[in-house]
Parts: sequence; C-alpha cells; structure tokens
Amino acid sequence: MTESLTDTFAERLIAWQAEHGRHDLPWQNTRDAYRIWLSEIMLQQTQVATVIPYYARFLERFPDVAALAAAPQDDVMALWAGLGYYSRARNLHRCAQAVVADHGGRFPSDPETLATLPGIGRSTAAAIAAFAYDAHAAILDGNVKRVLARVFGIEGFPGTPKIEREMWALAESLLPERNLPAYTQGMMDLGATLCGRGKPRCGECPFDGDCVAHSTGRERTLPTSKPKKAQPERYVDVLVIRAGDRVLFERRPDSGIWGGLWSLPELTPPLDTLEPDDAALRDRLGARAATLGAAHGVVREMVPLLGLTHVFTHFKLHLRPWLVTMAQSAASSEATDSQRAWLSAGEAAGAGLPSPIRKIADALAPDNGQLSLPA
Ligand code: ADE
Repeated sequence: MTESLTDTFAERLIAWQAEHGRHDLPWQNTRDAYRIWLSEIMLQQTQVATVIPYYARFLERFPDVAALAAAPQDDVMALWAGLGYYSRARNLHRCAQAVVADHGGRFPSDPETLATLPGIGRSTAAAIAAFAYDAHAAILDGNVKRVLARVFGIEGFPGTPKIEREMWALAESLLPERNLPAYTQGMMDLGATLCGRGKPRCGECPFDGDCVAHSTGRERTLPTSKPKKAQPERYVDVLVIRAGDRVLFERRPDSGIWGGLWSLPELTPPLDTLEPDDAALRDRLGARAATLGAAHGVVREMVPLLGLTHVFTHFKLHLRPWLVTMAQSAASSEATDSQRAWLSAGEAAGAGLPSPIRKIADALAPDNGQLSLPA
C-alpha cells in the first residue's frame, strides 16, 4: 500500500490542490521571483492574513529588487514594523543587495545558489525555485513535516537530524516530474487547512484511506512532539510526628514551595538511607522531633509510611513520610504557636494543607482515638 501511496501521492495532491487549494493569494499567479521571494520571507513565521497588507505596502514602496536594495535600511525596517522577527527584515535587505551586486539583479534559479543568500534556507530556496522557475526541489517546513509524519506514519520528533534527514529524502522522492508550483502549493495548502495541528479534517483529505496516522488512530500523536526535558527529582523526608490523636504540623517559610502553608515537618537534608531499623536514623528523627517541641516525648516507634510523588511544573517531588510515635504527653499545648501546632485529624482537614500533605494527613483518619495509617 505504501508503494502505491508513494507512486500516486503527487498526482492526488495536485488534483486536490486544483479543486480545493488556494489560488488567489496575492503572491500567486506570478512568476516574478522577487515577489515570490518577498512573500516566502514574510510567511516564514507569520500567518497569511497578517502578511497580506504588509506585502501590498512593500511592493508599492519597493516594486523590484533594485528598489529594495537601494533603500535606506531604516525605510525597510519601518515598513516591516509589526511583522516581528526583525532579523528577517535585515536579511531581506542584505539579500536584495546581494542579488543586485552578485547576480545581476536576477534571483538565481537553482535552489542551491538561492540557499547561499541571506535569510534563505533550504526549504524557502526550494519554494522560490519551484514557484518561479519550476525547479524540481522539495520544501520541508513545519506544515509539510506534519503532513509527511501523518500520511507516512513517521515516528520521532521531526526536529532531530535523523528524522529531518529521513523527511528530506521522503519529500524529494515524492516530487512529481511536472507541475512543481501546483504540487508545492498543494503541500502548503494541505498542511495549512485539512491537516492542521489541531483537529485534522481527515474525511476531506485526498490521502484519507491511505494515511497511516488516520488508519491507526494516531492523528493526534503524529508528528511526535518535542521530547520533554528530564524533570529534576527531589526527595523529601516528611515526619508524621504523632502523640496520642494529634500530629505535629509546621508552617512553611514564606518563600519556596507551599510558602506560608501548614505542612508536615521535613527532615533536611533528606536521609541517605531508607533502612528504618538504622539506629543513627532513629537518633536523627528523635532529635528532630525534640527540636520541634516534642521535647517531653520519647520516640516509641518509627515506621516508614507509603510514599507518594507530586509533580510540579518544573520538578518531581518524592515525599517519604515517616511515622514517629511519641508519648501522648509530647503534644503539649505550649508547643502550639503561629509556626507549629499539634492538630487532630479533623483540625488538620481544615488547615489548608498542600495537596500531597493532605493526602498523607487524610490517611490518618481517626478510629476510636487512634489514627489508622497506610501500610
Ligand atoms: N506559507 C509559506 N509559503 C506560502 C505560500 N506561498 N502560500 C501560502 N502560505 C505559505
């Protein structure tokens, strides 16, 4: 099936473009390389609707490449103002000057030479050469990458050199012998209309039945998105210091995560062992409990509770809760102030805890004065 798709791709695209593609954009229906080049540069990072009035004003002020090359840079920048990505305007001006100085005022017709000019990359060079000179050259912009990834089921982020090489080879292998302008416009039109990023309109697509993404239900996952950077991970040992039916909570510093919220006390730095029978660990937990106002208490028991992971936007926080059981007398009222409080499960529920801390606290449901805890 893929073979026949490859063989028929261009003719199906050209037939679709003739009937459903765009035919009246201001830069179509001309073979003037200057006009085509100007449109392609403007369209590099900007929508068609935004470009149209700029394009008209530019052509009125600079009707040919010689006029643009001779203009003061300030005039060029002033006409570009609002289109953004201003290096495009500086390169546009430099390119016009290079065409005049080095190419006799005529844009070169072969894509390799075009691609040596300022602001013209491989895909833009191919578009100019195909539209102006019928060159047998493939474009590969973001829209085309999306079409190829979906129709041919190409997995992998298209920004990687390996996938990009594969796509250039595929794009070149699909080129028709004739009708390069219609084919090139068809690629652009399909990517900009039916095969858009959001909800592709597969029912209207000329490749409907043969599209790998559509037939395998992967329209949404192709092309493969940019891999996310590995998220930093942090481990935090939190202490569930329990005395009778109360647990010790602490207010977090104003800065940092959960600033100003009530939370469980943390052990800093985190433990470098998770062995609960370790005597040194017992000492550390006991000492920490003492500094938290549980000074009257004796650590009776210390057990690890079920850990949980909370995902923030920029990192993953692994919480390792430890149940530290103190004598009931440890929960003395004098230890309660604006920074520290022994709370019952019911009080903890109303304290506005950060959600993972709430999960730990919720697991400490009262049961005849006892707290029931996860394994
Ligand atoms: N985007 C880039 N080049 C284009 C063109 N020639 N027509 C429409 N959109 C485009």
